[in-house]
Amino acid sequence: MNAEVCYFSGTGNSLAVARKLAEKLNGTLHAIPILMDQERITPQADALGLVFPVYNKGLPLILNRFVDKLAGLEATYLFAVCTYGDTIGMAIPHLAKLIAARGGRLAAGFGVRMPYNYLTPTLKLNGFFSAFTLREVPLEKQRALLDAALTRIEPIVAYIRAGQSGDFEITADFLTRLADRLNLNETLGKSTWLKIAGVTEPTELSFLESRQLMDRAFHADEHCIGCGTCARICPVDNIRIVEGKPQWQERCEQCFACLQWCPQQAIQFGSHTAGKRRYHHPDVKLADMVRAK
Ligand SMILES: Cc1cc2nc3c(=O)[nH]c(=O)nc-3n(C[C@H](O)[C@H](O)[C@H](O)COP(=O)(O)O)c2cc1C
Ligand code: SF4
Ligand code: SF4
Repeated sequence: MNAEVCYFSGTGNSLAVARKLAEKLNGTLHAIPILMDQERITPQADALGLVFPVYNKGLPLILNRFVDKLAGLEATYLFAVCTYGDTIGMAIPHLAKLIAARGGRLAAGFGVRMPYNYLTPTLKLNGFFSAFTLREVPLEKQRALLDAALTRIEPIVAYIRAGQSGDFEITADFLTRLADRLNLNETLGKSTWLKIAGVTEPTELSFLESRQLMDRAFHADEHCIGCGTCARICPVDNIRIVEGKPQWQERCEQCFACLQWCPQQAIQFGSHTAGKRRYHHPDVKLADMVRAK
């Protein structure tokens, strides 16, 4: 079997997993943001793997756009591996549905738990969830998670090599499944997250699409030295440097690469991220991420 492994990654977790899979499957590695330049994407190998982070118990927006471009899937063995911090939620079934709509069949989907790289909504007395705090994962826990993640790769590779199918990993409690069934992200989720990000006008965008506007909560503080790293690393070219400072362009994927990789820790999201330790996968370098654009 020959394989193509396509990945999206903000802080390197999914890239690290995709690299290992490609290496062990003797496959080729492709960055999804680069492939997005093509109008149609037709798999060239027997197997196509998609590797990506879980966002809000579902998929990153770019995965939706990527699958929309896939063609000629009928004879391809499709597999997915998502990385996540604590809850996979419904990411894999959502992907299976998108792939089915393109005429393909997701054979299997796995989750690899990795350090969490996002925000925790903070409950405040003066409002429901009214602020975000960057979640810091203690260094020992990071190490333990990364070591455990490595042990997940071999069984996944063996499964794929054997061409097996039928395993779809979901970690969703009753409430998560119910929220998904009732599509609560489109109502409660969307309005809560947009409110915290400071988006006040009504929008027709879906919950996933509305993440693009959430970059309004980013700003560079006085530690910014205008180095341009944030603009270079952004996978969707959503940052312009204007007069030495980043400006966000409202087509954000919320991957958090800009905030997590800024060498000055100068990028903040709202008012609760300053002074919080930044994260990226220890084996992934800035150059790997910039090349992945
Ligand atoms: C916008 C956003 C939403 C996230 N939502 C979830 C989530 O619902 N469940 C979860 O377990 N992790 C969540 N995470 C954490 C990431 O899935 C996890 O840290 C992942 O490994 C990051 O991969 P990357 O380094 O390749 O970007 C979220 C991260 C971001 C940036
Ligand atoms: S990476 Fe950080 S220091 Fe460099 S331009 Fe962006 S915000 Fe400023
Ligand atoms: S602006 Fe930042 S969070 Fe948004 S897509 Fe670019 S790097 Fe990711």
